Amino acid sequence: MRNFKTRNCFLMNHLDDCAPSDQNKCLSSLEFSMVTCRGAFMDQISRRGFTQQALGSLLTFTLLDTLLQRDAFAESVKPITVKWLADVNQLGNDLKDQKVKQLEWQKKVKELFAQVDLPDLLRLVDFDKLTQKLSIPDHGAKSLSFTFQQIEGVPTRLVFGKQIFALSKGRSVVPHGHNNMATAFLILKGDFQGRHYDRLEDLDEHMIIRPTIDDKFGPGGCSTVSDFKDNVHWFQALSEPAYIFNIHVNNIDPKAKEATGRVYLDPNGEKLSDGRIKARLIDYGEANKLYG
Ligand SMILES: [Fe+2]
Repeated sequence: MRNFKTRNCFLMNHLDDCAPSDQNKCLSSLEFSMVTCRGAFMDQISRRGFTQQALGSLLTFTLLDTLLQRDAFAESVKPITVKWLADVNQLGNDLKDQKVKQLEWQKKVKELFAQVDLPDLLRLVDFDKLTQKLSIPDHGAKSLSFTFQQIEGVPTRLVFGKQIFALSKGRSVVPHGHNNMATAFLILKGDFQGRHYDRLEDLDEHMIIRPTIDDKFGPGGCSTVSDFKDNVHWFQALSEPAYIFNIHVNNIDPKAKEATGRVYLDPNGEKLSDGRIKARLIDYGEANKLYG
């Protein structure tokens, strides 16, 4: 709205000398002046010069329009959402600096995610533009890279990695665990069946896991992963298109034996006592074939 008003104010500035009720009269007077002065006018500038001036004006208007649109877009993101992003980043910094433990990070990031103004977050990532010409694959989850709008207050240096997953109905972010990583999901659009498992034990060719979460997640729903809790997750889209906002803080423990990364597995493994599952370790290709 501000954009429209400002742009028209700019145009109306050329008629500022006329009061509103005198505008028609003023326009007629202007047209008359243009006709009567045409000869003198054309004497002063060549046709070529006139064209150059006209093009210059057009470029000025186009540039002005672009700048106003950018300004209007930036102002459409609320300060509270910019602060939210800064808080998420600070929490990641605190995790990397060992000021908060992974379990505390999970609790706090979940609280932050629960508070976010979702439409505002979509504006902050320019979601409409990001997904405008998107073709979502029939299989698996497509990872979209994006940048936050660089408006005042948005951190220029992010401590976390980020992506948005795009999925068709029935497709999954395939089951996987994580090494030396804390990560969080926030559902942007669509519905999901979200499953988490605790990672109890690592064997040579298996991982012993236990289900902890098996719920439906809609827009605004969130869940977290750390080395200590809910380490394995698997999200299947129940509608389409479906989108997940993801952040991940890598290399939390610089002394960890395992490099930061995913560990793919098949959670439909042998059922053990106490709800445990002996899940076979697999590679990404098989995980994608089975669950993607
Ligand atoms: Fe993950």
